Amino acid sequence: MLRVRNQLVKASGQCLSLARSSNSFKPVIARLQHTKTTETRPGIFSPFFSPTDEEQKEEKARRNYPRQTAYDTAKCKSPPTRNKMLVRDFIDDSLYNPNYGYFSKQAVIFSPETDFEFNNMSDHLEFMNILGQLYKDIEGEADEVDEVARQVWHTPTELFKPWYGYAIAKYLVSEYKLNLFPHKDLIIYEMGAGNGTLMMNILDYIQQNEPAVYKRTQYNIIEISGKLAERQSQRQDVKEAKDQHKCVKIINKSIFDWDIHVPDQCFFLGMEVIDNFAHDLIRYDLETLRPYQALVSTDAKGDYTEVYEPVGNDALISKYLAMRDQTRYRSPVLSRQLWLKCLQSLPLAPNMTSPEFIPTKLFMLLETLKTHFPQHRLVLSDFSELPDSVDGVDAPVVQTRYRGTMVPCSTYMVQPGWFDIFFPTNFELLRDLYLLVCRGSRAGNDKTVKVLTHREFCERYGDVERTTTKSGENPMLMYYENMKMILT
Ligand SMILES: C[S@@+](CC[C@H](N)C(=O)[O-])C[C@H]1O[C@@H](n2cnc3c(N)ncnc32)[C@H](O)[C@@H]1O
Repeated sequence: MLRVRNQLVKASGQCLSLARSSNSFKPVIARLQHTKTTETRPGIFSPFFSPTDEEQKEEKARRNYPRQTAYDTAKCKSPPTRNKMLVRDFIDDSLYNPNYGYFSKQAVIFSPETDFEFNNMSDHLEFMNILGQLYKDIEGEADEVDEVARQVWHTPTELFKPWYGYAIAKYLVSEYKLNLFPHKDLIIYEMGAGNGTLMMNILDYIQQNEPAVYKRTQYNIIEISGKLAERQSQRQDVKEAKDQHKCVKIINKSIFDWDIHVPDQCFFLGMEVIDNFAHDLIRYDLETLRPYQALVSTDAKGDYTEVYEPVGNDALISKYLAMRDQTRYRSPVLSRQLWLKCLQSLPLAPNMTSPEFIPTKLFMLLETLKTHFPQHRLVLSDFSELPDSVDGVDAPVVQTRYRGTMVPCSTYMVQPGWFDIFFPTNFELLRDLYLLVCRGSRAGNDKTVKVLTHREFCERYGDVERTTTKSGENPMLMYYENMKMILT
């Protein structure tokens, strides 16, 4: 079973946690110290936690650090110090900064040269072995390119090409024929197209099987990476000019910078893109249950500290939480009220709940869809759960490649640019939020917005026969069992 993008090996933990004091809108210092507070409350334990002179000086300086967003730091040539950023901006900067971000360095998307002949394999273990060998080769190549930590994505699109792309195509064509054909064009937008494999497979399928639909097909890619956009446009170079898909348009920009109104009925695809969308981090005051949002403060030496302020001055976080309140969702960190009460009465108890990561950038995507693609239908797939994540609800996996092995870390506050940070998606919550944002309807009221597992989708639309091994095992159905899809 392939669970995450890369092989994971346990690393020794570096535990971090916090404390805060409770003045209203000022950022609150979170000294990192095993979920125990260092707030200077009167009591017998206080003397043990009095800050040193140097710490006090640092705290004073920290209050004057400028607050920056990932847009502000995009022009920095190296990671900034003496600043503070909301967690989503810190993560965005770590991953996407054009100069030192993780993705601005080389990202390799694993793509076997030839398609796998599943029918000729004895069983899924043979598939695993072939994959292992190919993966080793590509990792070796990546090492030769650069010593720095590199990420090698392997996605269902690539491992099961062309069959996975054909399954998506079959879904798109059947929905299109049901609702739009022959009066309207089949318009597809794909966000984050990687090597361009899905685009090729979808268009090949339509060209070969649905020539009348093919004539009316337009395929648009929205790709943040300049290198990958280039690779996508070169993808057809191997084909003779007459066989090339002329209906493809590649737009090299982030979906978060999208500003074109698309009034047409269209399909909007995103396969394994949303897991890198940055999240914010909140905790709740144990006494009042009021939410606090985290900022990462970076000092002159480049050391990180979480500081907290009450939710209220960031429109995106406030809007997300207000919208989420309208769904049936209840945060797991608040669900054990009795335990929280007991916790409070303990000496040296933390004064905040454990962390909860909230998908603010994913929420922004929903708003972009509503505003700029009002007639879209969505097809998104990604991880619904991840092993080896850092502590917290919907917490990310933070990992880096060290001597050919992926090593997971226990905090997201790591040197920007050296670590992949990716999140699981709560698809059931996403569904309810989608209904509210894009359909203006209450959660659960619209049966046309569905969440399927990867397996359910592939069973329904995939060519199960062609992806089955001689033993009867089917890797396309067996693997990626921690992936889900939302179809609207
Ligand atoms: C893990 S790869 C997946 C590639 C492909 N969809 C697949 O399944 O093989 C993520 C892709 O999303 C792109 N991407 C990430 N963030 C994006 C954003 N904000 N806007 C557009 N593309 C983005 C990356 O550059 C990359 O092409």
